[in-house]
Amino acid sequence: MFPFVVVFIGPPGVGKGTQAAILSEDYVIPKFATGDLLRESLRNKTPLGLEAKKYMDSGQLVPDQLVLDLIKDRIVGLPKETGFILDGFPRTISQAIALDDILKGLCHTVNLAVEFKMDEEARILRLTGRRLCPQCQKTYHIVFAPPKTDLLCDVCAISLIQRTDDNEDVIRQRSAVYWEATNPLLGYYRNNHVLKTVDASSSIDSVLLQIKNIFASLK
Ligand code: AP5
Repeated sequence: MFPFVVVFIGPPGVGKGTQAAILSEDYVIPKFATGDLLRESLRNKTPLGLEAKKYMDSGQLVPDQLVLDLIKDRIVGLPKETGFILDGFPRTISQAIALDDILKGLCHTVNLAVEFKMDEEARILRLTGRRLCPQCQKTYHIVFAPPKTDLLCDVCAISLIQRTDDNEDVIRQRSAVYWEATNPLLGYYRNNHVLKTVDASSSIDSVLLQIKNIFASLK
């Protein structure tokens, strides 16, 4: 059993989503990525998704209340002993405080915040080469994690697509927003004694091992 609440923090392209997907399967725990939830709302053309689109397309953060409503809906019904991973949430100190309030009501707390660290130019290469399946949303990279058959999803066998915010201008804007609004979260979680850092520049397997070692040390 994995009863811990884990948050993943790091600038765009460090590999948060890739690791969250693998760990969610390996530990049989849910993962919630606010970016995925927002894109799902947009595909379903909900008012929330349509409202969020203008912020996402320009690399800005979506207003806190929209994101909080989305995440609260997912975690409130979970059994108390079930841990989970939050990928890309919280993104601001105010989101972190709101998360603490929600978790308090569920007799949970953030047990671990994992900082993913790597340099900017390598991240841009990862993001410009990222492709995803429009159906199952599985993520690939044209060089580092290619599909078995040229640009077709291994699971759904349909053509992979590129995210609209994965162009260099928007990537740089998303990074700037990270350094201004999200990076201060590291101090917040350091003060709560739950912050650990991984070297995200290494291979997918190596990053996975680093995180699993941290998970193994949780009590
Ligand atoms: P979101 O979808 O969360 O995007 P992001 O934080 O910018 O992160 P990414 O998904 O780009 O990167 P990642 O770290 O998950 O990398 P990945 O694993 O895919 O947010 C999008 C937008 O939604 C935001 O801009 C904002 O507008 C809004 N939003 C979301 N959450 C919000 C919130 N809480 N508040 C307000 N607004 C919010 O990997 C990238 C690529 O690299 C892939 O191709 C992968 O195959 C490859 N790769 C991964 N790991 C490795 C490795 N170790 N070696 C080689 N290649 C690798």
